[in-house]
Amino acid sequence: MPSEAGVPRRTVLTALGAASLAGTLAAATPAGAAALTGTAPSAAAADLPAAAAHWTFDEGSGTSAADSSGNGRTATLQGAAGWDTGKVGAHSLSLTAGGNAAASGPALDTSKGFSVGAWVNLAQLGGYQTAVSIDGKVVSAFYLGLRDDTGTFAFARLDSDATQSAAVAAAASAPTTGTWTHLVGVSDPAAGVIRLYVNGVLEGETAYTAGWAGSGDTAIGRALYGGGHVDQWHGLVDDVWMFPSVLTSDQVAALAGVPVETTTPLLSVDVGTPAHAVSPILPGLMFEDINHSGEGGIYAELVQNRSMMASDTTPVHWSAVGGTTLALDTATPLNAALNRSLKVALPSSVGAGDRAGVANDGFWGIPVRPGTAYTARLFAKASRRIGPLTVAIESADGATVYASAHVSHIGTAFPDRPFELTLRTGSSTPVVGDARLTVTTADPAAAGETLWLQHVSLFPPTYNNRPNGLRIDLMDKLVALKPKFLRFPGGNFLEGNTIATRFNWKNTIGPVWERPGHMDDAWGYWSTDGLGLLEYLEWVEDMHAQPVLAVFAGYSLKGEHVTGDALKPFIQDALDEIEYVTGPVTSTWGARRAADGHPEPFPLEYVEIGNEDWFDSSGSYNERFAAFYDAIKAKYPHLKLIASTSVTSRTPDLIDEHYYLAPSAAQASTHKYDNRDRNSTKVFVGEWAAQEGRPTPDLNAALGDAAWLAGLIRNSDQVLMECYAPLFSHVKNNVWATNLIAYDNLTSYVSPSYWAQHMLTSRLGNTVLPATARALPGLATVATRSGNRLYLAVVNSGTEKLSVPVELKGLAKGVKRQATATVLTGPSRTTTNTLTEPDTLVPRTSTVTGAAKSFTSTVPPLSVTVLELVLT
Ligand code: AHR
Repeated sequence: MPSEAGVPRRTVLTALGAASLAGTLAAATPAGAAALTGTAPSAAAADLPAAAAHWTFDEGSGTSAADSSGNGRTATLQGAAGWDTGKVGAHSLSLTAGGNAAASGPALDTSKGFSVGAWVNLAQLGGYQTAVSIDGKVVSAFYLGLRDDTGTFAFARLDSDATQSAAVAAAASAPTTGTWTHLVGVSDPAAGVIRLYVNGVLEGETAYTAGWAGSGDTAIGRALYGGGHVDQWHGLVDDVWMFPSVLTSDQVAALAGVPVETTTPLLSVDVGTPAHAVSPILPGLMFEDINHSGEGGIYAELVQNRSMMASDTTPVHWSAVGGTTLALDTATPLNAALNRSLKVALPSSVGAGDRAGVANDGFWGIPVRPGTAYTARLFAKASRRIGPLTVAIESADGATVYASAHVSHIGTAFPDRPFELTLRTGSSTPVVGDARLTVTTADPAAAGETLWLQHVSLFPPTYNNRPNGLRIDLMDKLVALKPKFLRFPGGNFLEGNTIATRFNWKNTIGPVWERPGHMDDAWGYWSTDGLGLLEYLEWVEDMHAQPVLAVFAGYSLKGEHVTGDALKPFIQDALDEIEYVTGPVTSTWGARRAADGHPEPFPLEYVEIGNEDWFDSSGSYNERFAAFYDAIKAKYPHLKLIASTSVTSRTPDLIDEHYYLAPSAAQASTHKYDNRDRNSTKVFVGEWAAQEGRPTPDLNAALGDAAWLAGLIRNSDQVLMECYAPLFSHVKNNVWATNLIAYDNLTSYVSPSYWAQHMLTSRLGNTVLPATARALPGLATVATRSGNRLYLAVVNSGTEKLSVPVELKGLAKGVKRQATATVLTGPSRTTTNTLTEPDTLVPRTSTVTGAAKSFTSTVPPLSVTVLELVLT
């Protein structure tokens, strides 16, 4: 018997405290390398425990398959079931449409520990195909076979005998047709897991504690779901074993007929033969105005509803000071865009020290800091010349003035340009989040008069001191990610609920007081469009990134869409937009850009046509994409055009795929692109996130994100670009649950997912190295190299410390003993960062020793680790 009989061989050591992070590498065990090439004698059947059933399918004729375990579970062939050449012995069971073999009753008790093994050979890929199962009443008690959702072999169980989602131990390797593969599923209630072994190697393991007894027949070549026979197996099945016990990994190796040494855990990295280049434009950012990401977010404007356009009936966010009466006045517009103003009826009490005017409450308060210069801009006029007009940042109750400035006089007409004032706080001004902005007068001449205000704006210092600019703390966090691109302006924000509320870029350029703004009805608030096309482009410029410009493509969220001639103006809008971005100052729209303050054209390579057009149930995207494609390519043949869903009318340069996943699904999807047809259209994963945590992801989601991103990097010959979404949430307006970065009006923090992405994209080489993880279920990895630096990322989503034997193949010389380990980990899956505790989860970098051609890396539970090794 194997020395560890009854105990699966595992890489799991003991639970790890945070203090154990030091010394991540342990010296290599010489046996680790030797195990790669060694051969072991095949295990004898005597090594296996007593079986509950065993069908050899060696009969080769007739409709019965005997049970050689001696338990009398003869299986009867039904439908299109027959015989073919065997993998073990002379014959196997051959199944096509509707064919299966079934033995009466359950061959074993699935509420207890059990194992089931079979040789399988697929005639076709795709769909759910179950090789072995035991019926319940509604669903099978287990499924061993191929799954459609993972696209891999898997062992799956449901929590009860009812239609519901399954716990899935999925393979890490891709299935192929016409080859024999050995599968073993193990249900281990004592360990609380189910496992899948492929060709003797542990490839999948997932938590499962339910355990219930299937009371129906034992089936080979089909399953039960929703009370019906499903999951037809197409191909061959041979040598099916059922054991009423939990097989050890050595016993599984014996059953598969492979040397034990070839099934031990190993992470093998081929240093000498890079797989392909890391896409040079892989990591980017996606932005749309959601959760007050723009208004009240990165767009630094502090006044909410500065343009009085947010409501047609009420001057929302404005309140009376000193007994004034407020109203929206459409008879007194500022201009055609801001076609109304705030009318302030001043009381007769004004004067003699009594002030009157208005206050704005900002985005959940106006933030105040000491030693800071704020810029106010406003249009004001009155029914007679009055002055001074005081603009102040003051406490919510008006008792404390933090900063103020004055317009000496205002006349009876709006000026051509806004009054501009600087308000400075003193060095001892407190940090306050709930201040207000007031505009008042105490001029006795104003008593009983009327004041009109429009475009009342207040900016703090901005990133790169841009006058209509962005919040510094948020920009710092983005710049630290070194994004290669910014995808903007959406997302649903691009589309609008209706065509009228789309991002109409022509309304977002020019002086901000000439922009009408629009309802961001996808996310429920007013957009001044102060963050307009030019501001997006300057944002990109400030990050040293490139734009991925999403153009409106004639479809809005609620289904409104246009085709044919009606689409032409939108195509022209897109062409004009591209000209505004890239055209010389001699072009119409290039000249507009220059007039707006940016004569230099912006670089542009990628344009996305629409957003998530799979929602267009009318099926018009094929036609719409072709129309945009033809027009844009005719004028700008060098531009790469991204389709927002699959199209057949034209071949897009890239296709945008979006994935919002549960953390466990994100972890499991690390292999999603591994087996992609390398000749198919390249992918832009333009939105993705493991969703858990509000307003930002918790550690569990970050682990899912890291595993998913590792897969994208590994496959960055296919996935050329990726960006997480959404990027931002204001903590007071968290309409979309899980976002990368959150903030209030004063401070901001980053999530563990931010750190995971930062780790994987900042410690990244320029070529991907082939890396194979064997018998390391749940571990996601990616290895890259630049020159003499090798970066090995390992994501351990499990709750136990893992000891990972690493082998570096193809080394020209060696590797320095000293390496750097950067680790992100935390005590539980739900641990997270918050506004008040922003640094609970941050990566820690330390020097470790013990790196060698073969070494063992010990990774903490629930962790992302990036090792930086120096090749000699
Ligand atoms: O990222 C949030 C939303 O999710 C985007 O606006 C949309 O494209 C997707 O459905």
